[in-house]
Amino acid sequence: MSETKPEIYTRVGKEIAAVIDGETSAVARYATAACLLSEAFEHFFWTGFYLVDPLKPTELVVGPYQGTLGCLRIPIGRGVCGAVAVDHKTLIVKDVHAFDGHIACDSRTNSEIVVPVFGADGQLAAVLDVDSTQVSAFDGDDQNGLEAICARLLHGVQS
Ligand code: SME
Repeated sequence: MSETKPEIYTRVGKEIAAVIDGETSAVARYATAACLLSEAFEHFFWTGFYLVDPLKPTELVVGPYQGTLGCLRIPIGRGVCGAVAVDHKTLIVKDVHAFDGHIACDSRTNSEIVVPVFGADGQLAAVLDVDSTQVSAFDGDDQNGLEAICARLLHGVQS
């Protein structure tokens, strides 16, 4: 029998935790999560992180990702990623073409989910952005699975 979506998230979450155990580099952790999540779900068209730029905290700058070319910078407050960076809450966008201000890095994207990532200090460090070419590709199972992975991602990283 094939795995359910929550089961896949549980398995991938454990794989990510095992690979990053003891790793103090945030970049290495982001890269591991982007790779293993992208490998786990065929419909993840773009999977990656936009990081709060410490030198320009009004902008997100692209971090490790898997997929087609991503925009390099997103002003905080713009697009789906920028909205999550303001509100610190996960956003599921079933149809990006209906989202006011959506930033289209690749016109093949039709839906997306963006999840905030907090550092050990409780400050917003990044957002995880997953895009799909399918409309309505993401639901509450994705939110629960990705939030659980993001909640643990930066534990053990020195800020
Ligand atoms: N769609 C995002 C921009 C990032 S890319 O799609 C990789 C947004 O509107 O925030």
